[in-house]
Amino acid sequence: MFRLQSPLPDHYRDATPEELAARIAAARDALGPSLVVLGHHYQRDEVMAWADARGDSFGLARFAAEHRDARYVVFCGVQFMAESADVLTGPDQAVLLPDLNAGCSMADMADLESVETAWDELAGVIDVETLVPVTYMNSSAELKAFVGRHGGAVCTSSNARAVVAWALGLEAGEDAVAGARRTGRRVLFFPDQHLGRNTAYALGFAASDMRVWDPRRELGGLEDADAKDATFLLWKGHCSVHQRFRTEHVDAFRAEHPRGLVLVHPECSHEVVDLADVVGSTDTIIRTVESAEPGTTIGIATEIHLVHRLANEHPEVTVLSLDPLVCPCSTMFRIDAAHLAWVLDGLVAGDVRNRITVGPETAADARVALERMLAIT
Ligand code: 13P
Ligand code: SF4
Repeated sequence: MFRLQSPLPDHYRDATPEELAARIAAARDALGPSLVVLGHHYQRDEVMAWADARGDSFGLARFAAEHRDARYVVFCGVQFMAESADVLTGPDQAVLLPDLNAGCSMADMADLESVETAWDELAGVIDVETLVPVTYMNSSAELKAFVGRHGGAVCTSSNARAVVAWALGLEAGEDAVAGARRTGRRVLFFPDQHLGRNTAYALGFAASDMRVWDPRRELGGLEDADAKDATFLLWKGHCSVHQRFRTEHVDAFRAEHPRGLVLVHPECSHEVVDLADVVGSTDTIIRTVESAEPGTTIGIATEIHLVHRLANEHPEVTVLSLDPLVCPCSTMFRIDAAHLAWVLDGLVAGDVRNRITVGPETAADARVALERMLAIT
């Protein structure tokens, strides 16, 4: 589904923050419990102020799945999150994305056609019965459906390790490398090579167990032997926000704050993750800041709106971005109070704007992959 956002009417674009806040408050009052507003941690404060639930992509997917009573779910996040919410909510619930242009450049790095091509090419070299596809939540519903049809599961940054262990068929407490050898299973992980690689390392695998799959090249740019040897085939995708963080940033922070704490999101490169004290999803980062000793200086590698919010909400610690020149996630940034007011006003007027719908067949297969994830974790 590709639809472009039409420009907002002038009276939204020209409205003052106070006028927009008044509109949103009035619409929320009018809609009452028929509405839930979900806010991903990377959203602007002017949007987060109205969220009934704040969360990481996993927490919000779960929240949407558990709130079958709300007629309208306004998802302040990006397209793939709203799609997942649509898949997990009932047919009588409408999921709305305040700005249709809020996509995710990483999710766009893997499309159904290239993943199907990869699968077919791999089938010429290895037994695909041993290959389990795992897609990061940051992917289209079509890819989640592919994964559902091929015996795999979705993962998020907070549960990737458990999902990959499940995909490899590991038993509880089993050594992952020995377990993968026992089951003979392997994982095709997309679209984020970094999350895949960091998860594989965290489970005890070595670089020699992993290969990067370049979708622009025949057989992913690999020799047959590489494809046969690899336990992990890592799609060549990345997040441009998290890939900006470099080891020099961590080194500079440590030099200035030798007792400081380094928290990084697993979409960062392995070199950066290797130097961190804590690696985790946006929720993990928040919990670590909340429980830090007062007076601690904390350097964070994730999207800047979350870092600023944590700095403002936790004056008892010093929160800094590891990269002083970070840019925001430009697609998350598209959602603002004006777009939120516009969709809510539409609902009050009986006009459901920017509804995100996933076709029934895709939704059924994607639900299988999402529900596997929810069952694993
Ligand atoms: P979380 O799963 O940590 O919310 O991250 C989602 C995301 O898009 C990070 O870039
Ligand atoms: Fe996508 Fe990166 Fe933005 Fe997350 S921060 S939504 S992965 S572009």
